Amino acid sequence: MKFLKDLKRSHYCGHLNKSHIGQEVVLMGWVHNRRDHGGLVFLDLRDREGLIQIVLNPSEAAMASAKEVRGEYVIAIQGKVQARPQGMVNSKLPTGEVEVSCSRCEVLSVAKTTPFQIDDKNVSENLRLKYRYLDLRSEGLQQKLILRNKVTQVVRNFFAENHFVDVETPILYKSTPEGARDYLVPSRVSPGKFYALPQSPQTLKQLLMIAGFDRYYQIAKCFRDEDLRAERQPEFTQIDVEMSFIDVEDIIQMAEGLFKKIWKQVRGVDIGSIPRITFQEAMERFGNDKPDMRFGMELQNLAHAVQGCGFKVFEDAVQRGDSVRGIVVEKGGSFSRSQIDKLVKTAQTNGAKGLVWMKSDGQQLTSSISKVIPEDKAKDIFTKSGAKPGDLLLVVADQFEIVCKVLSILRLQLGEDLNLIDKSQDKFLWVIDFPLFEYDAENKRWAARHHPFTSPQDQFMDTLLEGREKEYAGLLAKAYDLVCNGHELGGGSIRIFRNEIQNAMFKALGLTPEEVQTKFGFFIEALQYGTPPHGGIAFGLDRICMILGRTESIRDVIAFPKTAKASDLMAEAPSIVDRAQLLELGIRLGPQAEKNLESELNAET
Ligand code: AMO
Repeated sequence: MKFLKDLKRSHYCGHLNKSHIGQEVVLMGWVHNRRDHGGLVFLDLRDREGLIQIVLNPSEAAMASAKEVRGEYVIAIQGKVQARPQGMVNSKLPTGEVEVSCSRCEVLSVAKTTPFQIDDKNVSENLRLKYRYLDLRSEGLQQKLILRNKVTQVVRNFFAENHFVDVETPILYKSTPEGARDYLVPSRVSPGKFYALPQSPQTLKQLLMIAGFDRYYQIAKCFRDEDLRAERQPEFTQIDVEMSFIDVEDIIQMAEGLFKKIWKQVRGVDIGSIPRITFQEAMERFGNDKPDMRFGMELQNLAHAVQGCGFKVFEDAVQRGDSVRGIVVEKGGSFSRSQIDKLVKTAQTNGAKGLVWMKSDGQQLTSSISKVIPEDKAKDIFTKSGAKPGDLLLVVADQFEIVCKVLSILRLQLGEDLNLIDKSQDKFLWVIDFPLFEYDAENKRWAARHHPFTSPQDQFMDTLLEGREKEYAGLLAKAYDLVCNGHELGGGSIRIFRNEIQNAMFKALGLTPEEVQTKFGFFIEALQYGTPPHGGIAFGLDRICMILGRTESIRDVIAFPKTAKASDLMAEAPSIVDRAQLLELGIRLGPQAEKNLESELNAET
C-alpha cells in the first residue's frame, strides 16, 4: 500500500500568499477546524508554518472524503490557490488573502477527539503536559521551539567563527560541585557504586584546558536535584565555555560578542555594551545580585536619616551595625490600608520583623510609627529618603541580608503591580567582584560562593594561601554573572590553576585531604601536569530563550519539560521498576520506598 498515494507535498500551508494564485498545490497537515456553510465546506489546514483556508465545493469529488474529516485528522489536499472573495480577506492570518480550492482530499490518518482544542489557552497546565505532543502543535509553543533552534544556530556559528572547539563530555560521571543535590545512577557492573549526572561540565572543561584545547564550548545538558521555580528545571541546558591564557576582561568581551549577535539576529536589536556593577553595589542599590534594571525604586540607606529619631527599632539597628533601608513608591501615597497591609505581610513572611511605612497624601504625612516619633522627625526621614509629597516610603530595619531580601522582593512585586517595567526592552548587566566565600551558619563552615575552582582576586591570594580565616568574609573572587531583566543568565569565573592554591581552597572549605582525594583526586593530580591560566562561564540556554520568547515559564521553551515536582506527566517518569531490575543493580529499597512500590504494583494489577 502506498500511504501517500501519488501525492507529493509541494508547499507548507503557512507559506502560501498572493504570489501563488493560480498555482496547483499539494498540502499536507492537520485539520485545525472545519465549517459547513450552506453546501460549501471550509477547512483550516495547519502545519508547522501556519494555517491556510481550504474551500470545498459540493460539485467536487473531493467533497465525499472532506465530509468525513474531523479536527486533527491528518489529510492531504490538492487544489488551486485563489484570491479570497472580496470582504473575506482575513488580515490577522499571514495567508489570509488566499485560499485553496480543493479538488482532491485524502485522509492519511484519523484522530480521536483530542482532550483539548489545540491553542485553547484555558486548559490546565497538567493536562497540557500529559498530552505534550498535542500542546506542542499550538502555534505559541512551535514558535518558541523554532526560536530556540535559531538561538542555538547563532550560538554555534559564533563559536565556530571564533575558533572554539565543541567537545562533548560524559553524562555518566562523578559528582560536580555546583551546590545542588546529585542525580545518581546505580552501576550494575560495580554493585554499590553510583555515577552522578553532571550538575555542569565544570571539572571536565577545566581538564580540556589542561589537555590544551584552549577554547572550548558545548551546548551541554546539566542535572540538578534542587527546589524548582519558574526559571529552573532539574534537567536544563547550558552554553558552556572555557578559555585559556585569558583574564576576566576576555571572558566579558567574548560573552558580549555572543549576546550582541544573538539579540541582533533573533530580535534585530542592538544591545550595545553591557554596564557593570559590583556585587556589593548590586546588593546596596537593589538588595539583589541579579537586579532587574528596567525600573528604578532603588534602596535608600536611611542609617543617617534615622539618627536621633526616637524610634528604638531604628536606632538600635544602627547601633548594632545592622541596616535601616527603604524604598520609595512614587505616588504610593494613595495606597489603601489593605494594600499596605498586604505589603507588610509580604515583608513578614520573608523574614522581616515588621515594615514601617510613611505616606503622604500631598499635604499630610501619616505613618505606622506616628505614635512613637515626632512629626518633624518623620518628615525628615521621609524627605531624606528622596520621597516627595504624594509618595509612600517603606522601611525595614534588620540585618543587611534580611533588609536586602525583603526590600528586593517588595521592589519587584511593586514594579509588577504598578506596571513600572517596560517589558518591550531587555536590560543586561554584569555583576562582578563577587565574594569568594559565604558563611554556612548551619554547618559552621565556609562555602564557595561560586564553586571551589574559582580564583580569588590577585590581592587576596596570600590570605587564602596562609589560611587567614578571619579575613575570609572580605575576600573577592574573579567571578562574574550576566544578568538580564532580573534573571541570572550566566555565571563564571577565572579558575585556580596552581595546585597549592587549589589545595588551600579545599582546606578553607573544610575538606580533609582524604575527602579531597576521593572527591577530586583526579583533578588535583591533573593540575600538576602543566595547567594554563584559564577561566570560563556558562549561560542558561533555557533562560535565554525564555527572555527572547517573552515567557515567564521555562517550560515553554523546553520540548518535554518536567513539573515543579520534577516529574514528566506524559511518560510518567520517574516510575517504579521491576524488582528483578533492582536486584540486578544490588539495590534494596527502604521502608517508605518499599511501601510506595507495593502500592503502585497493587494499583497496576
Ligand atoms: P552556574 O551554576 O551559575 O555555573 O550555572 C550557570 C547558568 O546556568 C543556568 N542554570 C539553570 N537554568 C535552569 N535551571 C536550573 N536548575 C539552572 N541552574 C543554573 C543559569 C546559570 O546562570 N560551572 C559553572 C559555570 C562556570 O563557572 O563556568 C556553573 O554551572 O542561567
